[in-house]
Order: sequence, then structure tokens, then C-alpha cells
Amino acid sequence: MFKGYDFSKLEQVFHYMNQDGASCDGTWIEENIFPSKYKSRDKIRTILDIGCGTGKITANIANYLPNAKVVGIDVDQYAIDTALKLKEDEDLTNVEFYLLGGDHLKEEWTGRFDWITMLKVFHDLPNPGPCLKGAMRSLKDDGVMTLHDPLCHSDPKLNVGSKIHASTLTLSCYICLPCSLSAPPAVGNGIGWGLENRAKYLRDNGLTIHGNESVEVIHCSKTLK
Ligand SMILES: C[S@@+](CC[C@H](N)C(=O)[O-])C[C@H]1O[C@@H](n2cnc3c(N)ncnc32)[C@H](O)[C@@H]1O
Repeated sequence: MFKGYDFSKLEQVFHYMNQDGASCDGTWIEENIFPSKYKSRDKIRTILDIGCGTGKITANIANYLPNAKVVGIDVDQYAIDTALKLKEDEDLTNVEFYLLGGDHLKEEWTGRFDWITMLKVFHDLPNPGPCLKGAMRSLKDDGVMTLHDPLCHSDPKLNVGSKIHASTLTLSCYICLPCSLSAPPAVGNGIGWGLENRAKYLRDNGLTIHGNESVEVIHCSKTLK
């Protein structure tokens, strides 16, 4: 028996994500997640958003890059149904949504994507290894992967006295921690995993991180031998 629960039990979170995603427009994308320092905009033609949730940010990426093909995947049925409705309502032609886990990415996607995003997803995963492996297989050798995880240090002493760390850790007890305990092997990373442990995990698994690794949004590429 696993003690956690996943996003399907967290309808209010999806409701919040819908609202939150709406404010993540092209300007937000450019200023916060777009890897412009590492890949020029015209070189990003294929994008995979793993754990796209209700799809608002994915749709905004598709609008921001109208010449690109964008794919959003998520394991949650409600999230994908909402994303598909959004695609229809907004008549989006350059985005597809699939009910699919990051650990079951299609074979035909091998080496396909210029840019892969995992926005507020990685620390939630009960089994991050297969998902990362699938993402790396699907990333082009010169592609960029962008991860967004909450601001929290791995060393608890560095979080002491910070309101932002206190509030994210509290939130984690209700959302991220149970999600990361919801299936085997239930690694239980939650927010408390912290940015430094995330960076070490990525490096140990064959990624090179560009720039500062102790920030919420990082960009990385495959370490080529
Ligand atoms: C906190 S939400 C983030 C949603 C969206 N990326 C955003 O930034 O608004 C995390 C999402 O990851 C999805 N998720 C969890 N495990 C997953 C997996 N193994 N593969 C794909 N998606 C997953 C959840 O269903 C949820 O929609």
C-alpha cells in the first residue's frame, strides 16, 4: 500500500492551474522559461511538454511559437480532457495533447524534440528515473530540456528564516509530497528534495546544466561523450 495520492485527487489544484496558466503568456514564457541563451527561437520547431496539466501553458507556448509543433502529455484524464477542450475552443492547430505518462513516451518520438519542458512536475514524480530516461531519449542531441521546480534548498539549514521556503514546504505536505509517494518506488521527493539534489540527480543521469543550478528554472542538455 502506498500512502500518497496523485493529482486525480486534487481537483482544486487543477482549477488553480487553469487560472495560473492563463497569466503565463508569451512575455512570461520569454522571460521565465524560454531557453533563448542556449537555443535560438527559429531553431525550436518541436516541443514536448511533459506533465502539461490542463494545457494552458502548453497552448501559450504554441501561440508563442506559431511555426512549431507542440505536444503536451499528462497522466491525468481530467487534465487532458480540459486541454483538448482548450485546443478546440481556441482553434489551435499546432498543438496535440495525449493521455500519456512521461515514462511511456512513444518510440517514434526518439530524437524528435528541440525543446522539452517539465514545469512543476519533476519533484512530484514517485518514479522520476524512467520519465527522465524517456525525455532524454526523445530530446535531440542539440536539444534543451527546461525544468521548473519550486524554490527550496536541499540543505534544510539554508531554508531557515525564509517565508518563501516555509510556504513552499507547507504546500508540499499537501500536494507534492503525497504525489511523489503515490506509486512505487515512492521516492517521496516533494519540494523538500530541493534544487541542489535535483541538479545532482540530473548530472548523475547524463545531463549538463547550463548556468546557475540553484534556481527554480534550469536549462540542460544531454552530456555528449
Ligand atoms: C503541478 S502540475 C503542473 C502542470 C503544468 N505543467 C503547469 O505548470 O501548470 C503536475 C502535472 O504532472 C502530471 N504528472 C504526474 N506524473 C506524471 C507522469 N508520470 N507523466 C506525465 N505527467 C505526469 C500531473 O497529472 C499534473 O498534471
